[in-house]
Amino acid sequence: MNHRKQGRDHAGKLGQELVQLAKMTAERFWAHRYINYHIKNWRVDKMSNDNVSIFKEIMGSYPTGVTILTTTDAEEKPCGLTVNSFASVSLDPNLVLWCIDRRSASLEAFEQSQGFVVHILAADQEELCWAFAGKDPDRFSKADWSLSKNNLPVISGSLGVLECKTVQQIDAGDHIIFLGEIIDIDKQDKEPMLYFRRDVGKIPTSWPAVVVH
Ligand SMILES: Cc1cc2nc3c(=O)[nH]c(=O)nc-3n(C[C@H](O)[C@H](O)[C@H](O)COP(=O)(O)O)c2cc1C
Repeated sequence: MNHRKQGRDHAGKLGQELVQLAKMTAERFWAHRYINYHIKNWRVDKMSNDNVSIFKEIMGSYPTGVTILTTTDAEEKPCGLTVNSFASVSLDPNLVLWCIDRRSASLEAFEQSQGFVVHILAADQEELCWAFAGKDPDRFSKADWSLSKNNLPVISGSLGVLECKTVQQIDAGDHIIFLGEIIDIDKQDKEPMLYFRRDVGKIPTSWPAVVVH
């Protein structure tokens, strides 16, 4: 008798738990549908000129490192430009990204090439930074460079060199995002160059981890 009562109690509890679980699942399902519906129907208005200026000011106040991106064009000539949109993406596989303006004279070379090189600039490479940010097509004459075994132009003297195979090109408004997988890597013991409010510099000596050489 006791056993039967215990069995009934147990089944009753189990039933209640199942009903609760079903309720929770249904609630989550509808919440998910509701959120997705609203995200799909979001309207994103073009930013006003004032907000574009604020966006530029914010991004200008966002300190970054500085890189030079290089590749070779169809005639095997070196091409490159100064870039601060570089970011690391993934460790496994080892992926990095950067963005290029559609108006860039080097765009076609990067689009057609199988790979690119990211040079993480050292603080003493200011002249190169501005040479590769200007319009002079002869910018490589200011650099000490050579072709790597992957047939990519490598500039010497930077803090880090990442040779990459292009794995994806993604349309992103007035820019194109290049995603690359690292195929060769090199590092030198140097201080990085920083970019902040349209100027470049080195890490302040007051920075906690800076060892003054
Ligand atoms: C610090 C700094 C960062 C820059 N970052 C980028 C960038 O991420 N992408 C880009 O397309 N241009 C960037 N530029 C602008 C290009 O370097 C510049 O427009 C260059 O003249 C392009 O050369 P090209 O037209 O011969 O390719 C940057 C310039 C500077 C000074």
